[in-house]
Amino acid sequence: MMWYLLKLIIILQCVNSVRIVNMRVPEVVQYGSRDAVTMDCEFVTGNVTGLVIKWFYADNSCSECKHGKPVYQWIPPQKPQALGLLKNKLDLTYKVSRNPYTQHRALRILSPGTELTGNYTCVISTFLAEDERTKPMTIFVPERRFDMIQDRLGDGYLNVICSAEGVFPKPEIVILAGNRPLPSKTSIKLINERYSIVTSSIVKMESLPSTVEILCDMQVPLANYFSRKRDIFYRDPPPTTPDTPSPAHKQARDRGHQKNASTIMIVSTILCLFRIRIT
Ligand SMILES: *[C@@H]1O[C@H](CO)[C@@H](O)[C@H](O)[C@H]1NC(C)=O
Ligand SMILES: *[C@@H]1O[C@H](CO)[C@@H](O)[C@H](O)[C@H]1NC(C)=O
Ligand SMILES: *[C@@H]1O[C@H](CO)[C@@H](O)[C@H](O)[C@H]1NC(C)=O
Repeated sequence: MMWYLLKLIIILQCVNSVRIVNMRVPEVVQYGSRDAVTMDCEFVTGNVTGLVIKWFYADNSCSECKHGKPVYQWIPPQKPQALGLLKNKLDLTYKVSRNPYTQHRALRILSPGTELTGNYTCVISTFLAEDERTKPMTIFVPERRFDMIQDRLGDGYLNVICSAEGVFPKPEIVILAGNRPLPSKTSIKLINERYSIVTSSIVKMESLPSTVEILCDMQVPLANYFSRKRDIFYRDPPPTTPDTPSPAHKQARDRGHQKNASTIMIVSTILCLFRIRIT
């Protein structure tokens, strides 16, 4: 009797249940690389009475809210509706299948922009049951520029400055000398939906080896993205031993070139910092 009841309950639950069997959301999409992205929420249900398909969006700031905000709703056999963030951004004619109860379950987002980065939840409900799943999507923009400069401060200190512009979502920068991370300060700004980041580290030159590799390592955690700038620090200026006249002359000229190049770098970074500050 007990077993019969249990069996009956299980069968009833299967008939009445809703189960999401596969949710497909592209995890990382490079901005501008695709005309459209599709998010699908494949489900099975034993009973379609009262079937409603809903999609919700939550950005990173919305950690306490459960689903976030509604962005899509479809109650078959009515027409699907785009809401909130996805209003006017969906191809509402898109059909993922021929089944009248599942054909509009998927979202087809046209020209996805970085503002769509976030967590997406699909909720499938009937009168009798409900199931939901959440997956993140990141629309990623690699940096427009990424620079490193070494600035000798004159009192025995070296200032290493790493700056990157035009990144999305939020990047992080670590400065390393000989694979050892240096203590650093970071300032980060969001300008027109893109991040600008400046990280700098001031170290006593005596504390560094006489020749050491300096690295600026940038990563964008949500996009699994990594980028690196590399340079060599020489504590002592290059040797200026008097040689035969013509090579020495050449060397001096080369050093002059180098100085001009680094002056340009410093000036451009200062301009860059300044621009970030006034924006
Ligand atoms: C589906 O559920 C509704 C509401 O409980 C019920 O009236 C209907 O008979 C069920 N249909 C099937 C095929 O089980
Ligand atoms: C999704 O939510 C988790 C947990 O709140 C959060 O850590 C993550 O950054 C979110 N993903 C995106 C792409 O916003
Ligand atoms: C460096 O720039 C100055 C002007 O700023 C110029 O007079 C000089 O010739 C340049 N040196 C070299 C080596 O290019």
